[in-house]
Amino acid sequence: MSYSFKVNKFEKGKAKRRGYVAWRSPSNIALIKYWGKHGRQLPKNPSLSFSLTEAHTDTSISYETREYESDECSLEFYFEGKPNEAFKLRLTGFLNSIIEFFPMLKYMDLHIESSNSFPHSSGIASSASSMSALALCLCSIEQELFESTPEDKFLKKASYIARLGSGSACRSVYGGFCIWGDEGSDQLYTDDYAVGFDDVHEVYQSLHDDILIVSAKEKSVSSSVGHQLMETNPYAQVRYENAEAQLLQLKEHLSCGDIMAFGKIVEEEALSLHALMMCSDPSFILMEPNSLKIIEEIRSFRTETGLPIFFTLDAGPNLHVIYPDNIMSEARTFIEERLIPLCEKGQHIYDFIGTGPVELSKVKTS
Ligand code: PMV
Repeated sequence: MSYSFKVNKFEKGKAKRRGYVAWRSPSNIALIKYWGKHGRQLPKNPSLSFSLTEAHTDTSISYETREYESDECSLEFYFEGKPNEAFKLRLTGFLNSIIEFFPMLKYMDLHIESSNSFPHSSGIASSASSMSALALCLCSIEQELFESTPEDKFLKKASYIARLGSGSACRSVYGGFCIWGDEGSDQLYTDDYAVGFDDVHEVYQSLHDDILIVSAKEKSVSSSVGHQLMETNPYAQVRYENAEAQLLQLKEHLSCGDIMAFGKIVEEEALSLHALMMCSDPSFILMEPNSLKIIEEIRSFRTETGLPIFFTLDAGPNLHVIYPDNIMSEARTFIEERLIPLCEKGQHIYDFIGTGPVELSKVKTS
């Protein structure tokens, strides 16, 4: 059954309102990958991720309501302090596509500013953090103009709207771990929005996720084309079933704290994602030679030391190195000596599991 939420109708002729909302939203890293979609940005398999801290987007919206209705959203858009027409066009298209969920958008002028904590051309995808920050801002405006909703409903709607902007963004509205997609075991999870997952052993509560930039170049194949190519991938059905099974197992390893079993699944998932790309038609490869070298280094270091240090990959060549806080000293020495030399200009971000989005407009005024 598809989720539905209250759509607040804006009443014409109401007194003019203006306001300001702002959110910081993190990026997230999927451990069980979403790859393949259908309908209106619905996943072909459930995914599980955790939110990061250092890689985030700050978005603010100043809005002013008006008497008359316009067919399209009216907005100005500034990216990292400067007007950006290309981003504005994309954003206008997205906002127009969600007017049915926010009819108020027809009655307001928006001034949107957005900036990322990481450089635009660092090879780190910003769609998850930016779309979730935007969705949270829209839900906050709605709260200001209409009645306020309980936090869980607010987050469900923000997650639903973020999903329409970029699938994986729906997982960025929560801190810690979350699951997006019906994983068959109970009614808790749905394809419509993500839900927090907190049955997690303490060993994972301080996970590091160091991002190693192997290449900052723009990807040769976008995620949306990659998702589309799953439609003709001969292994697609097997993958969707396998992802569900992997997720159920990972949930168990998360709950009981078996970090070696956790890491095995995390690495299998990353390599399965890239294997699916390689056997798509047309085939494509997003890893670079140094991505493979880093994978080899991590595996050898683990064999040498027995330490729980693992890798995962997004749809790109950059590595995420995952390990618990209690081995940080050994892990950092290893990363600095053996992995950072394999990064483009040594670029990396030391990131870690985060507590989720922050409403900046509330932090500033209180
Ligand atoms: O949200 P999209 O459409 O950019 O797809 C994200 C796909 C992966 O990052 C490869 C996996 C995931 O679940 O985040």
